Amino acid sequence: HSTSIAQSQNVLRVGTEPAFPPFEFQAPGGGLQGFDIDLMQAIAQAEGLRVEFQSLPFDGLIPALQARTVDAAISSMTITAERQQTVDFSRPYFKAGLAIAVRANNTNTTDLASLQNQTIGVQIGTTGAETARKIPGATIRTFDSAPLALQALLNGNVSAVINDAPVTLYAIKANNLTGIKVTSQLLTEEFYGVAMPKNSPNLDRINAGLTRILSNGTYDQIYRKWFNA
Ligand code: ARG
Repeated sequence: HSTSIAQSQNVLRVGTEPAFPPFEFQAPGGGLQGFDIDLMQAIAQAEGLRVEFQSLPFDGLIPALQARTVDAAISSMTITAERQQTVDFSRPYFKAGLAIAVRANNTNTTDLASLQNQTIGVQIGTTGAETARKIPGATIRTFDSAPLALQALLNGNVSAVINDAPVTLYAIKANNLTGIKVTSQLLTEEFYGVAMPKNSPNLDRINAGLTRILSNGTYDQIYRKWFNA
């Protein structure tokens, strides 16, 4: 591939869907913040690269990688066999999983089976949406972002939301959403990876940077900052 001057090899164009706190979200003064944002900057810094973030819809990230309009995507994206048919992933950088959110007074919903014939909110293109699709009789409402799906749950427009557990738990805590809760059981175990086009020259560099920050304490520092653990 040719490299223009404006798009030098030291610039990594990284796509993200920025409504997924605490992983990627808008900073008050503009720009992006979050665990993934700090992580990507640290990986790039370790490899002598500069990051330029591009905000995209979540279901537009893989198409953007395929069209090579971005070089990578970091967006709490779960490494799945299906996605691996079209893109490559870095080594995993975070362990998460899906959880069911319901209104606080709901005592009937405990697991996937109890969601049969219910109306379920999900973010479009996500593993949560895939999981919801398999529930017999369920009506799926897709939203452009996870916060919009949770808002619909609060409003009573859906009876449950299937979304990444750390994000739903963070939303409840950060916004003091006493009207909703997460059911105790995690539905899946999922690992996030940085996605890249197939055969990307950046794959090795991003893995090397990730390995470096995992071993030199930078990853732990970023983790503590966002999960204050
Ligand atoms: N982990 C889930 C998936 O890969 C959800 C990711 C949503 N990310 C986002 N930035 N909205 O499908």
